[in-house]
Amino acid sequence: MTSSKPLQTKKLLAVLDGQKFDRPPIWIMRQAGRYLPEYREVRSKAKNFIEFCYSPDLATEVTLQPIRRFGFDAAILFSDILVVPDALGLPVHFVENEGPKLQPLDPSLNFGEIHKEIDLERLSPVFEAIRRIRSALPKETTFLGFCGAPWTVASYMIAGKGTPELAPSRLLAYRNPLYVQQLIDRLVDASIAYLIRQAEAGVDAIQIFESFAGALTGDGIGKFSIEPIARIIKGVRQKYPDMKFIVFGRGSGGNHVRYARETGANAVGLDWGVDPQWAAKAVQPILPVQGNLDPLAVVAGGDNLDRQTDAILEAFSGGGHIFNFGHGIVPETPIENVERLLRRIRG
Ligand code: CP3
Repeated sequence: MTSSKPLQTKKLLAVLDGQKFDRPPIWIMRQAGRYLPEYREVRSKAKNFIEFCYSPDLATEVTLQPIRRFGFDAAILFSDILVVPDALGLPVHFVENEGPKLQPLDPSLNFGEIHKEIDLERLSPVFEAIRRIRSALPKETTFLGFCGAPWTVASYMIAGKGTPELAPSRLLAYRNPLYVQQLIDRLVDASIAYLIRQAEAGVDAIQIFESFAGALTGDGIGKFSIEPIARIIKGVRQKYPDMKFIVFGRGSGGNHVRYARETGANAVGLDWGVDPQWAAKAVQPILPVQGNLDPLAVVAGGDNLDRQTDAILEAFSGGGHIFNFGHGIVPETPIENVERLLRRIRG
């Protein structure tokens, strides 16, 4: 060996470091989830979803399940982006078949209803889970931590729930941009503190989920999404200069290019609406890409699944690529179709 760099045994981290492979590493967003019978069994033991996230035993077990079953190249911490508002003092409830619910923020209270700083003590079970997962993972498996991007988390805090077109947060951003900016600033600080503790506990890299990027237009995307994400990445790197980041700006179309150029990320996650041939020309020359199979193609399976998989592999064969779905795997997905996909990718 003449290289002074230690050999990277983790394939996914190697891609984030600029290497390319004939057969890309793969993981799946929401890979620990209801499509797995072993997940449903553990899930039935938890009182509710938020308690599940705060139980180091259960969170460790379900994080490891998809690694044992499929040998994915990355494990992602089992938790949720909404533990951040929860630790800021806005309790989160998950209503069965409806999704998350929280007390909506009231701008006239000027943040009186939340803490100034994130309560990291409340999140200590998450850090305990990270330490346990770290020590149980195979050495070739990359361990991903994560958080929601400020705009996505702020949208839940403003509306108190998921809303189809994000009308509450978009409207408030027009009517009271100062309030929305101040909320985002608080979430930047909270996310930096939270991610530094994730790094300390042992994650190898971090994905930032901007699930609602598609609801921002014009200068909103710069102000409320790209710039705050850039500040989070910079803030974490002040403590952990080598920390790697994947930024997933779901639904952001041509702005995937800006996420690649302007956030300081090491890779960009592409949603399933992005044309791989376009992204290979417009995004991949800037940074490695992650994605972007339609989750429903994996529900349907068959020859079409093979064709779409091949098209993605082919389009991204010229540069850095991490295979993933273009959004989370859905509960109806047959396990045989995930196995078929893995055979196709691994050969
Ligand atoms: O990817 C993983 O496997 C890691 C764990 C993870 C979960 N949520 C577990 C989860 C991650 C990274 C998330 C992120 C998350 N949570 C996002 C960003 C990614 C995205 O999907 O766009 C968002 C927007 C949320 C908020 C959230 N959590 C919603 C809207 C829901 C309800 C929808 C649903 O699928 O039920 C959740 C619940 C949730 N988070 C589940 C899981 C496995 C399902 C809950 C259950 O088991 O009943």
